[in-house]
Amino acid sequence: MTQSHRITVCTSCRHKGSTCRPGYELIDKLRRAIEAAADGVTEAFEVSGVACMAGCDRPCTVAYHGTRKATYLFGDIDPDADIDDLVAFARQYAYLHDGWCSSVDRPGKLRKSTLARVPAAMMVMEETEARAS
Ligand code: FES
Repeated sequence: MTQSHRITVCTSCRHKGSTCRPGYELIDKLRRAIEAAADGVTEAFEVSGVACMAGCDRPCTVAYHGTRKATYLFGDIDPDADIDDLVAFARQYAYLHDGWCSSVDRPGKLRKSTLARVPAAMMVMEETEARAS
């Protein structure tokens, strides 16, 4: 499967009073978990890092993006405890047509740690549809 989805992890997040930046550990663990899953669905995800996604009070932050899909930003993600939930959401997200789902449908901690859910930008599609009609 080609990589059509992306998980972005903040590499700048720090827990209060700590100099450690757990985003790097989170990226490493998430890549290994996705590789270990080897289920063809999670392989569609590229995992990368970025410095700050404006959720600095809720470290670590993690975003899910996909073409023509809603974007999610999650906070309070722990590299030691939340990898299974992140991989489970990758599977779920891959199958969601527009990426949209309710908090109660998200796995584990991701039900309560959503900082943002942004609808897909549909301008190009709407413009194309208008030209076709
Ligand atoms: S430092 Fe991680 S979101 Fe700002």
